[in-house]
Amino acid sequence: MKPSLVLGIETSCDETAASVVADGTEVLSSVVSSQIDLHVAFGGVVPEVASRAHLELFIPVIREALAQADLDWSAPGLDAVAVTAGPGLVGSLLVGLSGAKALSLAWDTPLVGVNHLEGHLFAALLEAPDLQFPVVVLVVSGGHSFLVDMQGPGKYRLLGQTIDDAAGEAFDKVSRYLGLGYPGGPAIEKAAREGNPKAFRFPRALRGDGLNFSFSGLKTAVVRLIEREPEASSADVAASFQAAVVEILVEKTAQAASDTGAKAICLGGGVAANGPLREAFSAAGAELGIEALVPSRAMCTDNAAMVAAAGAFRFAHGDIDDLSRAADPNWFLDLEA
Ligand code: KG4
Ligand code: ZN
Repeated sequence: MKPSLVLGIETSCDETAASVVADGTEVLSSVVSSQIDLHVAFGGVVPEVASRAHLELFIPVIREALAQADLDWSAPGLDAVAVTAGPGLVGSLLVGLSGAKALSLAWDTPLVGVNHLEGHLFAALLEAPDLQFPVVVLVVSGGHSFLVDMQGPGKYRLLGQTIDDAAGEAFDKVSRYLGLGYPGGPAIEKAAREGNPKAFRFPRALRGDGLNFSFSGLKTAVVRLIEREPEASSADVAASFQAAVVEILVEKTAQAASDTGAKAICLGGGVAANGPLREAFSAAGAELGIEALVPSRAMCTDNAAMVAAAGAFRFAHGDIDDLSRAADPNWFLDLEA
C-alpha cells in the first residue's frame, strides 16, 4: 500500500470515535468516547439520544485524535478522511458522514465511505499485519453475527450468518431479562463468573447443520426456564447461557476453518471482548494447529482505527466518494461475486 495518512471517523452506534492511521497499519491515535452512561437509564441505545451526543462529541473527539497524532487541526495534511457510511443507526451515521464531508471540503481532502463490518475485519489485521490468508473471521456484535472466508483484504465470501438475533443482541436481551443491566455482554460475563456453566443445558441451535447461527430459541429457552424456576440463580443461568453461545460460535468457526483450509481463525466485533469466548477461540486454533487471532478488547469493540485502516485500503484502490455519498443503514459487507 502506498504511504498514506488517514483520519477514521466512527459514529454508527453509541461510540463517537476518531483515529489517525499511517500506511494502513500504524495507529498514531485512537480516541473512543462511549455514550454508555447516557443510554444506561433506558436499558439500551436510544437512537435520538445517540445522534445528539455524536453531534456534541464529534469535533472534540477529532481534535483530540489529531492532537495525539501531532497533526494541526487547520491543516492536518491527511490523504483521506474515512468515515463509516453503514451499517448502523441512520441518524448516528448521518452525523458522522455530514461532519466528515465538511472536513473533507474544508481540508480539500478525499472522502472515503467505509463499511463498518469491513472495519471489524481490518481491526484484526491491524494487530497482525503479517497474517497469512485465507483466514476465517468470526464477527459477532450487537447487530451482526457472521463467518467470512477472507482471502485477502477486500476479498470476502460469506460462509454463514445468524438467521435471527445477533449474538450480542442475545446477550443484551438475556441480561435485560435477568435484570443484570445494559450493556448485556459485560454484565452476563461478570455474573457468569460466579455461576455454573453446566447448571442448565440450553439448546445449541443448528448444531452440526451448516454454518448459520440462530440465537432466538436460546433466548426463549432462558425465558421459559425462569418462568418455570423463578428461584434459579442468575449466575447459573448467565453462565449456562454464555457457555451455549460460546460453544456454538467456536464449533462453527472450527468447522468453517476445516471446510476452507484456513491458515488462521480470527475474532472480531463487540462480543469478541468476552473472556470465555476468547479462551475457547484460542483453544480451538491450537486444536486445529492454526493461528487463532484474538485482537485486544479495544480493537474488538467499536473504534475508529479499524475504520481508518479499512479506509486506507479502499483509498489505495481508488474508492473515493463525492459529497453526495449517502448513509446506508443496511449496508452488508461487499462480497465477492
Ligand atoms: O461491535 P459492537 O461494539 O457494536 C456493534 O457494532 O454492535 O458490539 C456491541 C455488542 C453488544 O451487544 C454488547 O453486549 C456486546 O457487544 N459485548 C459483549 C461483551 N462486551 C460487549 N458480549 C459478551 N461479552 C462481553 N464481554
Ligand atoms: Zn461494531
